[in-house]
Amino acid sequence: MNSQTDKKTFTLTDNSSGKQIELPVMEGTVGPRVIDVRRLYAETGCFTFDPGYTSTGSCESRITYIDGEEGVLLYRGYPIQELATNCDYPEVCYLLLYGDLPTQKQQSKFEHDITYHTMLHEQLNTFYRGFRRDSHPMAIMCGVVGALSAFYHDSLDISDPRHRMVASYRMIAKIPTIAAQAYKYSIGQPFVYPRNDLKYSENFLYMMFANPAEDYKANPILARAMDRILILHADHEQNASTSTVRLAGSSGANPFACIAAGIASLWGPAHGGANEAVLNMLEEIGDVGNVSKFIKMAKDKDDPFRLMGFGHRVYKNFDPRARVMQETCHEVLDELGINDEPLLDLAMGLEKIALEDEYFVEKRLYPNVDFYSGIIFKALGIPASMFTVLFAVARTVGWIAQWNEMIEDPSQRIGRPRQLYTGENKRIFKELKDRK
Ligand code: SDX
Repeated sequence: MNSQTDKKTFTLTDNSSGKQIELPVMEGTVGPRVIDVRRLYAETGCFTFDPGYTSTGSCESRITYIDGEEGVLLYRGYPIQELATNCDYPEVCYLLLYGDLPTQKQQSKFEHDITYHTMLHEQLNTFYRGFRRDSHPMAIMCGVVGALSAFYHDSLDISDPRHRMVASYRMIAKIPTIAAQAYKYSIGQPFVYPRNDLKYSENFLYMMFANPAEDYKANPILARAMDRILILHADHEQNASTSTVRLAGSSGANPFACIAAGIASLWGPAHGGANEAVLNMLEEIGDVGNVSKFIKMAKDKDDPFRLMGFGHRVYKNFDPRARVMQETCHEVLDELGINDEPLLDLAMGLEKIALEDEYFVEKRLYPNVDFYSGIIFKALGIPASMFTVLFAVARTVGWIAQWNEMIEDPSQRIGRPRQLYTGENKRIFKELKDRK
């Protein structure tokens, strides 16, 4: 890894003993410096304390960089807006995995190799039969992706770069098939096998919407919109689900089990589940006249309600992805001839009111990537229960790129945080007969 151990240090003074220690400061290419606290416990007997990791860097990474103050998102140094406008999703997958944009020859080979891994083992297709038809598709994703370990675990040596890349290609290639089959299973339709003559996003829409009774040809504008949505969701530094994948992988677990853990974490409404929650919230608000009531609830500390699709741990400015999603939303609705989408009108009204409210201004709460995605997915005919599944499809490349980076990092160790213990100190055991 190429961080510089800066000559500057931080001096920490323990005022109870007067002892001081010098902690090295590390400086990356861009962004906040970090104080290296790896010696802190050995030298002071103290841990750091940072629930939610608001001020903690868990690793060194070269994949994605976010400047939350400026609303900047870079994948391997390229601004997300450039990539979303000029690339297709497989091209961005190559960039995240290998660190550079592919040449035409590299792109063609990568797309060919991914295409020829899109089918699932037929035995895995019967695995779906164990779920109820009304299972949430994210539950199916957790189960089926975890089950991939049963098909590839033995032949997987994570210390072998070739094995890791084969597993990475398999994961990127198969996740759309697994997702589309989760949808087909939930609506009682037969699975539609992937086609090798279709591009990644076209193939996904084909597997979602074709059926044996009639063929399906994806509208190129909609396929392009899907491709752009996948790019926007592909990676995002050390978010909850990526950190879950890294922590699971730090024990040496196989990548399929790690990705299944990432899917489980993404499902939460505070994270990837927010896109489904935004649509449910908009439908509950119903009319722009009700917005102020919901904003009041969101501001009430005693009310657990949060304005879904707003706020972000890192962005204290507009989420740059939200702006591209807003543009894509208008393109999709225009292409589909949907001139009157009450949910979009409501979302635009909610956004305007929220961004003028002093609470949201003071707390710097802006629309995030999830605010518009649900409206686009609904317009594409995708049910709300599948929204987070699509997020998982997109984020799989980010998870697998971060997993590879962690395995290749020579300083990587098993993740094992400590704690501040506030429970009972050692006490005398009482026999059951003596307990009153
Ligand atoms: C994603 O990490 C990532 O990168 C995630 C993601 C990715 O690509 O991986 O970007 C994807 O998960 C986007 C976020 C989707 N979630 C939602 O839209 C759910 C609604 N948002 C909130 O739950 C919240 O904003 C979080 C979870 C996103 C962030 O939580 P934090 O870090 O605790 O928020 P914060 O510290 O910035 O909050 C500051 C204040 C707090 O109040 P105080 O304790 O200071 O009094 O703002 C409040 C929060 O309670 N607040 C909100 C709010 N979000 C934060 N109040 C009302 N409505 C909200 N949406």
